[in-house]
Amino acid sequence: MDMQTRAVHILNEPMPSGSQPLSVPIVQSSAFAFDSADALAGAMAGPDGPYVYSRRGNPTVRALERTLAALEGGAAAIAFASGMGAISGVLLSLLRPGDHVVAQRCLYGGTYAVLSDLAARYGVEVEYVRGDDPAEFERLVRPTTRVLHLETIANPTGQVPDLPGLSAAARRHGVVSVVDNSLASPVLCRPMEHGADVVVHSTTKYLAGHSDVLGGVAVFADVELRDRVWPRTVELGACADPFAAWLTLRGLPSLPLRMRQHCAGARLLAGRLAEHEQVTAVHWPWLPGHPSYDLARKVLSGGGGMVSFELAGGRAAGRAFIERVRLARLALSLGGVETLVAHPASTSHRELGEEALAAAGIGAGTVRMSVGIEHPDDLWRDIEQALVRP
Ligand SMILES: Cc1ncc(COP(=O)(O)O)c(C=O)c1O
Repeated sequence: MDMQTRAVHILNEPMPSGSQPLSVPIVQSSAFAFDSADALAGAMAGPDGPYVYSRRGNPTVRALERTLAALEGGAAAIAFASGMGAISGVLLSLLRPGDHVVAQRCLYGGTYAVLSDLAARYGVEVEYVRGDDPAEFERLVRPTTRVLHLETIANPTGQVPDLPGLSAAARRHGVVSVVDNSLASPVLCRPMEHGADVVVHSTTKYLAGHSDVLGGVAVFADVELRDRVWPRTVELGACADPFAAWLTLRGLPSLPLRMRQHCAGARLLAGRLAEHEQVTAVHWPWLPGHPSYDLARKVLSGGGGMVSFELAGGRAAGRAFIERVRLARLALSLGGVETLVAHPASTSHRELGEEALAAAGIGAGTVRMSVGIEHPDDLWRDIEQALVRP
């Protein structure tokens, strides 16, 4: 079935009665009662038994996990309290002191911070690659390399890594490939179809889509990998709350429609920005001339909703622009129905510091725009007035 159809049909657990609710019931219970001590003890064995305690599993959260696993083409999933919960949970589960990680140089600042922390405090060695050439990974890979960490569409440069090439290289060396698919969503890319082992999301972004809930998920290509990560996530306690899971499920049926509009708006605005005299560069992977254009056409079915750009006046002009927009809002997120602008160097990517920002291709004045689902002509009028106002 097409994604547009699958997104509408949540994988809900059957109810014992003769009819089924169309919406997923919110099971707002911290614990579940049993009739026998043996049954309760037996349920502690793993993630797939009867529900015991909502940090270990919950029916509303399970509906989200099953639905997202199906949309990503994975075997199983674990939902988290946030995208960072998912990323930290996966990395802490797969890595030990002395292990080696290869990661894409342009990464979300929070992920970069986790990797830096793992290096500084836990003796994990981290090296970075551009991501468009598997040979670069081949040169760095060692017997201790455990994880390759990538972003399908890198935040905020729009860089697209060579997912098929890198995933295949990782597999050849027994390295687990983890792909953050937050900015593409399974509508534009399903990294497991290109060989990824784990797909993580900030469901806060496009999946939930309405800027009203934080969440994260890790989807696993096989159940054995899920079972390696699950015990750590129970220990970390970064579990998804049933109501947060419900809000995320509430957003999913419209995901394909929203993505279509995000992409259409971004295409129009990226094209017009590229022609504007005050704009010196536009970063949108489906714009001809973007360094990832060929790869993006290969692995994505749309350019995504995030457009970044540089202004002739540099950092001062970028920061002035984000204060001048009226319809777009100055806020630190993306993927919601409303258009948001931000200045990554001082916010989402501040952890990178000057040198790492430059290496990742993030300018001091780069403006990031998460294009919402408003009419693009209204957004363009807003952008124009913010660009020309003295
Ligand atoms: C690509 C990417 N991954 C992960 C995260 C972290 O997600 P959360 O804010 O839900 O913890 C973000 C947040 O901006 C992001 O952009």
